[in-house]
Amino acid sequence: MTQFRLTQISDTHLARRLQKLTDNFHRVSEHIDATRPDLVINSGDISFDGPNSRSDLEFAKELHDALPVPSRLLPGNHDIGDNPTAIGPAPKQPATENERKNYLDVIGEDRWRFDEAGWCFIGLNSLIMNTGIDSEAEQFDWLASELSKANGKPVALFIHKPLYLNMPGDPELESSAIRYVPQPRRKDLIEMFSRVDLRLVASGHVHQRRDFTFGHTRHVWAPSAGFIISDAMQEVIGVKEVGLVEYRFQPDSFEVRHIRAPGQIDVGLDSLIGEK
Ligand SMILES: [Fe+2]
Ligand SMILES: [Fe+2]
Repeated sequence: MTQFRLTQISDTHLARRLQKLTDNFHRVSEHIDATRPDLVINSGDISFDGPNSRSDLEFAKELHDALPVPSRLLPGNHDIGDNPTAIGPAPKQPATENERKNYLDVIGEDRWRFDEAGWCFIGLNSLIMNTGIDSEAEQFDWLASELSKANGKPVALFIHKPLYLNMPGDPELESSAIRYVPQPRRKDLIEMFSRVDLRLVASGHVHQRRDFTFGHTRHVWAPSAGFIISDAMQEVIGVKEVGLVEYRFQPDSFEVRHIRAPGQIDVGLDSLIGEK
């Protein structure tokens, strides 16, 4: 295939009881049916509360399986728990081997690599980073082995949390440590990817749309497909809107389109509280 069309959705936060988020997913699904990309990637927070409600994960899996094209998923903190960070408060629900197993049982793989249109695509589980659980080291070993087989191809990384705000040397701050891949693993990842031709890092998690380039690498923050977070609860960094991202990869180049599916509505997190 000399061209590969990929649609990234993120932060769908699905649960059977949350109708507005399910409605937004259906609008996305209809748009995917109309545009028929080769693949859909959900970059995490697939479910609303995976660690406490296996049925949220099961419901999310059901909806992704019903998409008209194949999909690959990645875990978010709402699916398997969150990273411990060197500074800032400990997560209420740290990612554990048990939560990860639960995810593997219901959803399937939590990391993957495939090649299309002359590109190497890698998806990582960012939530186990810094946990010290066995799968963290396993994943780094697996990643080193996959990167060694990139053979000079351009690389696209998909991951739930962005690597950093603006540049690799950004300090980790107490107020935002939980927003990015935590140190010291961030440094390790950047170092590993510096040995290949990393052109794209596509993430979710922040529920804000953003697109910037540092050096040779474009960083695309997909918005949530489900809901936005108010300015009172979260600072403005990019654009707060729901939507999705479409990519077209060709050997040695790619295009990005930031769009909203027809009928997708900017649901506020506050308005979900009554639905919980
Ligand atoms: Fe999210
Ligand atoms: Fe998240």
